[in-house]
Amino acid sequence: MTTFNTPVSAAVAKTAGGRVFNFNAGPSILPEEVIEQMQRDIWDFQGSGFGILEHSHRAKWFQKLLDEAEARVREVGGIPSNYRVLFMTGGSSSQNYMVPMNLLKPGNTGDYIVTGYWAERSFDDAKNIGIPAGTPHLAATSVDQRHSYIPAESQIKYSQGTSYVHITSNNTIYGTQWHRVPIVPPGTPIVVDACSDIFSRPWDVTKFGLVYASAQKNLGVTGTTIVIVRDDLIDGSRTDIPRMLQYRTFAKEQSMPNTPPAFSIYSVWLMTDWIRRQGGLKAIGELNQRKAALVYAALDERSDFYICHARADSRSLMNIVFRTKAGEAADKRFMEYARQRGLEGLAGHRATGGMRASLYNAMPLEGAQLLASVIRSFQ
Ligand SMILES: Cc1ncc(COP(=O)(O)O)c(C=O)c1O
Repeated sequence: MTTFNTPVSAAVAKTAGGRVFNFNAGPSILPEEVIEQMQRDIWDFQGSGFGILEHSHRAKWFQKLLDEAEARVREVGGIPSNYRVLFMTGGSSSQNYMVPMNLLKPGNTGDYIVTGYWAERSFDDAKNIGIPAGTPHLAATSVDQRHSYIPAESQIKYSQGTSYVHITSNNTIYGTQWHRVPIVPPGTPIVVDACSDIFSRPWDVTKFGLVYASAQKNLGVTGTTIVIVRDDLIDGSRTDIPRMLQYRTFAKEQSMPNTPPAFSIYSVWLMTDWIRRQGGLKAIGELNQRKAALVYAALDERSDFYICHARADSRSLMNIVFRTKAGEAADKRFMEYARQRGLEGLAGHRATGGMRASLYNAMPLEGAQLLASVIRSFQ
């Protein structure tokens, strides 16, 4: 028997554009003005007389767009000229094998800090590369507490002669996030899977050797994976692997050794402009802090009723993973209660159960406010 403490007929909240709030983990919410621009550009891109989906990637319009997309990624992310910005395909998942294939030197190790499902995938794929790559090494894992925390420096055991240290900056499924850059052996590049928190807060990219993120959470629509990689890592990478698996191929051919995921790159071009207009990473970071603080405050206030999966010091600002203490049936009722009020996409991943609220860049403050009030009012 479902019980609600506010009437089921309570008005469904809507975004400014009259839609519901979408908390899905990815593909995920986009800014409404970006979607409206896409609608226009699908019909006629920049007065060319036909739409962005129909343009040749070798035509001048697309070349200009690609140049600008790269320039905007550089501007928003503060990316210096000794880093390459690549638009690749295959999702963040394909970086799980590209990173070790390119960077893991024979006789060396690659150190992995495993803080969740996706980090586990990265480590497992690296193990499958085989000769002549080096050996992946498990430097730390949070599996002992169901990936509810980010390991402290004292828990990380780096190996000798490591080619890189791999981390997952935000653990989408478990709702934890790195709030520091790990201290690694001097000169060791840090490789970051930033799939679910790229460009969500200020950062210093020069602390990292290679960063990758597929676009479908904070940067646009699914299709392209952005790889930001330092020149020297490309120069030193292996040449005895297939051409399409080498970073240097994408660097040399400006991300177009074959037909690129044009619409997804176009979406990044729009999103980076949108981020700029919001005030860049500083303003976006402040807003993301505010949104997450609202939701966590509501959960903490009702800690008699809800449990957050993440330990307080490791909480993600992007994915808030929680459940009711009353169990699965109550979780389902919560989601239904939220859905009836205009909040969609709150189902948690099967690994954690319960709920997950994704508060990516495009989620307006109103969405977080509404979620916080629904968390408070549900019984
Ligand atoms: C942190 C993280 N890494 C990797 C992936 C896999 O990304 P893709 O589906 O683009 O391969 C995801 C997907 O949600 C993710 O959240």
